Amino acid sequence: MIRHAIITGGSSGIGKATAKLLAKAGANLTIIARTQTKLEIAKAEIETCRVDSNHQLIALSADVADRVQVQKVVADAIAQLGPPDLLITSAGTAHPGRFQDLPLEVFERAMAINYFGSLYTLKAVLPSMEQQGKGHIVLISSGAGLIGLYGYTAYSPSKFALRGLAESLRGELKSSGVKLSIVYPPDTDTPQLAQENKTKPLATQRMTAIAKTWPAEAVAQTIVDGVRRSSFEITPDLEMSLLVRLHSLLAPVVNWRFDRIAASAHLQNHDD
Ligand SMILES: NC(=O)c1ccc[n+]([C@@H]2O[C@H](COP(=O)([O-])OP(=O)(O)OC[C@H]3O[C@@H](n4cnc5c(N)ncnc54)[C@H](OP(=O)(O)O)[C@@H]3O)[C@@H](O)[C@H]2O)c1
Repeated sequence: MIRHAIITGGSSGIGKATAKLLAKAGANLTIIARTQTKLEIAKAEIETCRVDSNHQLIALSADVADRVQVQKVVADAIAQLGPPDLLITSAGTAHPGRFQDLPLEVFERAMAINYFGSLYTLKAVLPSMEQQGKGHIVLISSGAGLIGLYGYTAYSPSKFALRGLAESLRGELKSSGVKLSIVYPPDTDTPQLAQENKTKPLATQRMTAIAKTWPAEAVAQTIVDGVRRSSFEITPDLEMSLLVRLHSLLAPVVNWRFDRIAASAHLQNHDD
């Protein structure tokens, strides 16, 4: 039974869908994101999922790329609802485009939000979990954190970095009683994906069109199930599970296929 879950990016997409499932399961919740209006709308939506109105839900505004704001907001959440037993770092951003066309700010922002935003939150929450001798941290990476994809030169490294963090921290946390999971969602129907689709190069559009797009609710269910099973790697489908186990072996095959798609897109001259 989860008593208090903190979810960054809990006002939208995968984070909000996971918050709803946890609300149904009776958890007290803190959702964190930047935009106050989106937070308020999400809060009202998540509240309708509660089984018991005594369960509390607070919505706090902070930019996870700002470590001072993160420290403050986590302290605030702990003061109001007690130490969390679950942290999900779902706040994220993606801006695809061809490497030469992306300004440096896009690369910096991807690392600041996706990697450092998760790291700051983890650092802020971990002492309270270690003090209790229990807790569970869930980092949201991506299929693009397993294999580099055309058009994702800013996003992929930030999600690879999360994988490096999870794989190296996992062992360190073992003796503390705090569990760690990393999620590799496939394309998921959320506002982020809609935004990504606006700037994807044609080659990327064709590569990602091969894969099925998942509903956020289904990805959220996989996350909740993975937490219950204490899985280290959480993947909603067979493709992601295969990539997790075999990414180095599969990379040449995937690259061969995607290089052909990119070549055909370039021939059409849409991309250059
Ligand atoms: N959708 C996909 O296809 C997909 C696939 C693989 C992995 N993922 C990953 O899954 C996670 C959730 O993505 P999603 O698709 O659910 O996105 P989403 O619907 O756009 O939600 C993103 C959430 O993060 C918050 N956020 C963004 N930047 C923030 C910042 N600097 N500080 C605090 N909060 C911030 C947003 O609220 P504000 O903008 O108001 O701050 C929003 O609540 C992300 O890490 C994403 O990279 C998504």
